Amino acid sequence: MSRPPIQKVTVIGAGLMGHGIAQVSAQTAGYDVSLVDVKQEFVDRGMAMIKDSLSRFVAKGFIDQAKADEVLSRIHPTLDLRGAVSSSQMVIEAATEDPKLKLDLYKRVSEFLPPGAILASNTSSISITLLASATKTPENVAGMHFFNPPQLMPLVEIIRGRKTSDSTVETVRAAAKKMDKETVLCKKDSPGFIVNRILMPSLTEATLLLEEGVADKEDIDKAVTMGLNWPMGPLKLLDYVGLDTALSIAKVITENLNDKRYKPSPLMEKMVKEGLLGRKSGRGFYDWPSPSARKS
Ligand code: CAA
Ligand code: NAD
Repeated sequence: MSRPPIQKVTVIGAGLMGHGIAQVSAQTAGYDVSLVDVKQEFVDRGMAMIKDSLSRFVAKGFIDQAKADEVLSRIHPTLDLRGAVSSSQMVIEAATEDPKLKLDLYKRVSEFLPPGAILASNTSSISITLLASATKTPENVAGMHFFNPPQLMPLVEIIRGRKTSDSTVETVRAAAKKMDKETVLCKKDSPGFIVNRILMPSLTEATLLLEEGVADKEDIDKAVTMGLNWPMGPLKLLDYVGLDTALSIAKVITENLNDKRYKPSPLMEKMVKEGLLGRKSGRGFYDWPSPSARKS
C-alpha cells in the first residue's frame, strides 16, 4: 500500500518520554506535532519540560532562540485525541506502561486513524502483537522504543509484531533516521525486547543489594559508574526512569517470560506504594529538586 508522506505526528502521553519524543519529532525531523494527554495540567507540564530542554540547547549554542521558538510553534498541546490522530500520518504512543490502559487506548485510537497511518508504540515491555490486536490495522503497528532522555539518547529499537508489515518497519526506520536516531530491529516480539531484557535484572539487583544492606546507595552507584563505566549508577537510573514504570516493566517481563530473574524487588514495590517514584515525584532513592531548578 502506498503511504502518504509523514508531515504530522501525534504523540500520545506528555510525560517523561512523550515530551522528549514530541520535541525530537519537531526539532530534528521537522514534523508538525500534536502532543496529547488526558488532563490540561499534564500537557502543560510536558510543554514546560520541552521549553526547559530547548533553553538548555540554546544556552549551549546547539540551536539559536529563533529555532527554539520555531520548534515550539510546531508542537500543539491538546486533549483532543480524535482531532489529533485523525489528521496525522503517524501516531507515537508514549502513555503509561499499563497493558490494560494501552489496550483500551489502542482500540480508541484505531477508530480515528486515517488509512495507512502508522501506530508506533514506545512501550518498554508490552507485546506489540498484543497491542496491535486491539486495532483494525495490525499491519500498521510497530514498536518504536526510544531511550530516556529522547533528546540525547541516540538509539531507537524497532519491534516487529507478528502482523507488522515490511513497509511499516521501513517507514518507522525512516522516521527514526529523520530524527537522527540509530536503529536496531527486534525481529521477534519478545518481552522487554533487546535493551530492557538486558538492563532490568541489573536495576533490580541494585535494589536488592541496597535492601540487603550490602552497600549504601552512593557506593552501589559509584561502583557501577566507576567499575563498569555506566554514565549513571543503577539507582540513579531507576530514579530517572521512574520507579512506577520500572516496576511495571519488571512485572510484564516476569509474567510473559515466566522468568524469576525479572521479578521486582520488595523495595521497588514499597517505594512505588509510598509515591517515591524518582525524579518525576521529587523523591526516589535520591531527592530531586523541582524541574525548573533541576540540572539534568
Ligand atoms: N534536554 C536538553 N539537554 C539536556 C537534557 C534534556 N532533556 N538532559 C540533560 N541535558 C544536558 C544537561 O543539561 C547537561 O548540560 P551541561 O553540560 O550544559 O550541564 C548535558 O546534557 C549533559 O548532562 P549531564 O552532565 O547532567 O549528564 P551526563 O553527561 O551524564 O549526560 C545523560 C546526561 C545523557 C542523561 C547521561 O547521564 C546518560 O546517558 N545517562 C544514562 C541514560 C540511560 O541509560 N538511559 C536509558 C534508560 S533505559 C530506557 O530508557 C528504556 C526503558 O524502556 C526504561
Ligand atoms: P510518564 O508516567 O512520565 O508519562 C505517561 C503519560 O501518559 C502521563 O502524562 C499520563 O497522563 C499519560 N497518559 C496515560 N493514559 C493516557 C491516555 N489514555 N491518553 C493520553 N495520555 C495518557 O511515563 P513515561 O516514563 O513517559 O513512559 C511512557 C511510555 O514510555 C511507557 O510505555 C514506558 O514504558 C515507555 N518508556 C519509558 C522510559 C523511561 O525511562 N521512563 C524509557 C523508554 C520507554
